[in-house]
Amino acid sequence: MVTGASSGIGAALARELAIAGWDLLVTARREQRLLVQQQELEEKHGVRVTVHAADLANPDDRAGLLAAIDTIPGGAACLVHAAGSAAWDRFEQLDPVQEGRRVSVATTATVELVGQVWPGILARDDGLLIIVSSLAAWQPTPYMATYAAGKAFQRSFAEALGAEAAAAGSSARVLALCPGPVDTEFAWVAGTQPLAERVPVLKPVELARETLKRAGAHKGSVAYVPGWRNRVSATAAAVLPRGLVTRISERNHRPR
Ligand SMILES: NC(=O)c1ccc[n+]([C@@H]2O[C@H](COP(=O)([O-])OP(=O)(O)OC[C@H]3O[C@@H](n4cnc5c(N)ncnc54)[C@H](OP(=O)(O)O)[C@@H]3O)[C@@H](O)[C@H]2O)c1
Repeated sequence: MVTGASSGIGAALARELAIAGWDLLVTARREQRLLVQQQELEEKHGVRVTVHAADLANPDDRAGLLAAIDTIPGGAACLVHAAGSAAWDRFEQLDPVQEGRRVSVATTATVELVGQVWPGILARDDGLLIIVSSLAAWQPTPYMATYAAGKAFQRSFAEALGAEAAAAGSSARVLALCPGPVDTEFAWVAGTQPLAERVPVLKPVELARETLKRAGAHKGSVAYVPGWRNRVSATAAAVLPRGLVTRISERNHRPR
């Protein structure tokens, strides 16, 4: 099952999973995009793709999606939770209701979706959970304050579940995917194109391939930061004093 499958990283991961022969349940709000993707993946890769449009910030839509997951024959072996978005501005300039909705996609939806598939993933030899967090999970991010807080939740949650799985002797693999800038619609939605122009940007297809390779190469949990520059940045954020990291982050993300 792949969330955020209508675009960007989720769409690229859905395509790579289809190439690897997985049947898919794909979800996002834009149903038409999902239907086009369904046709392409079924024709090219001979897999079965089920479309279920849902707004993950909407509790009723989430309940409908959980019910759809229940109908997957044998249960979901893999969940990729890629849905997410951000807005870039001073917090007082942002709509707190919209911010809350974005946070619920990163937090409540993450917990509910993972909760629905986790027992099955734990029990299988090929169980796989990929939560698309962000490099922003490593530090408070002024001007994207709720976004980074939600991503920190996702990273911590994934790492903890991976450790639980390993301690229980499960073969489940859990990946907190923590990319820096990726060339998707994200920057257009968030208004962060000027930020993305300051740093190297990954292609979603390369990210998806590397992520699945990485996911296959370990058991338990790992936070995967693609790209050496991003890894240096994450390591620095982990070892430097939090106040200093936050001040540097403020300067790096300040709208000019
Ligand atoms: N691109 C980057 O630079 C970058 C870096 C680090 C982490 N990430 C993370 O990567 C993930 C994927 O983003 P992307 O870069 O691929 O951006 P994207 O191209 O904008 O894709 C975002 C996906 O999330 C879905 N989505 C957003 N809000 C949703 C909602 N309320 N309910 C259901 N689906 C929703 C969108 O589908 P609909 O609009 O059709 O609903 C779309 O499929 C996000 O979690 C993002 O935080 C991105």
